[in-house]
Amino acid sequence: MSSPVRRPRRLRTTPAIRRLVAETRVHPAQLLLPVFVADGISEPRPISSLPGLVQHTLDSVRAEASRAAAAGVGGIVLFGVPEPDDKDASGSVGWAADGILNRAVAAVRHEVGDDLVVIADTCLDEFTDHGHCGVLAEDGTVDNDATVELYVRQAVSQAEAGAHLVSPSGMMDGQVAAIRSGLDLAGHEDVGILAYAVKYASAFYGPFREAVGSSLVGDRRTYQQDPANRREGRLEAALDELEGADIVMVKPASHYLDVLADVAARAAVPVAAYQVSGEYAMIAAAAERGWIDRQAALTEATTAIVRAGADIVLTYAALDLAGWLR
Ligand code: PBG
Repeated sequence: MSSPVRRPRRLRTTPAIRRLVAETRVHPAQLLLPVFVADGISEPRPISSLPGLVQHTLDSVRAEASRAAAAGVGGIVLFGVPEPDDKDASGSVGWAADGILNRAVAAVRHEVGDDLVVIADTCLDEFTDHGHCGVLAEDGTVDNDATVELYVRQAVSQAEAGAHLVSPSGMMDGQVAAIRSGLDLAGHEDVGILAYAVKYASAFYGPFREAVGSSLVGDRRTYQQDPANRREGRLEAALDELEGADIVMVKPASHYLDVLADVAARAAVPVAAYQVSGEYAMIAAAAERGWIDRQAALTEATTAIVRAGADIVLTYAALDLAGWLR
């Protein structure tokens, strides 16, 4: 038997040589930490479907933001959880200056200044009494254009509260263009848009719905994308880029790496990917049972998302990862 000419194993023999030839490196600065801030609680409240995560108080989210800044994490993405009685048909507490989300944005920005990128979720589902991402038309469908007008108000209120970036996640057509012109008209030319450009109607958002106390009955299939569609991801990302998105996002991440790679190959702006609640929860739950190594699995999943083309990764494990990557 002749010896193989190529022996790829040579570059795998020691940790040092593997490190030398690694094609993908994950850095804490490219991670974004999503957090939940709840109104009307005095202590952080554990989220049972997201082991290790809590709904924050205004005080605890400020502490979490400082930890993220100290760990070198790139930024923080804020979601608001209102008191159930404050929900209404249009989700108006979502853009109120004294609503929980805008208070959280202001508190975190005050805490971290410009040391961390402060990002506000721009969507109404946490604040509507029916749980949909916008206002409903007579026939019960989500009214695209009426909803976009409310997103503009919400985005402007978030800029006023101190957000560096607003992050429209509702999948209404034309939302990015409308928000861009609304921000500009209000004098917020420097507030950017991290657009959920490619977002699928996914079963992997389950734990998030518990985390925000969602009132949703049914699903979001008339506005979020069909998981069967790949090409459509290119269209959605291209549209958001044309409409003025500063960063485009693909969501979920791990089961959509093909879509992420397509978007990354074509985008002229940075590309983010969101490892969503269900993706995180599956790893965390299996690790709790001793079925999987938490650190190894989360590190591998994040590396795969970056390998597929993400410049930025939203992950609930951002703080842990920042520690491990050090
Ligand atoms: C909507 C929104 C959702 C998530 C982020 N923004 C839920 C949805 O679309 O139903 C899910 C994130 C996750 O599962 O981690 N504002």
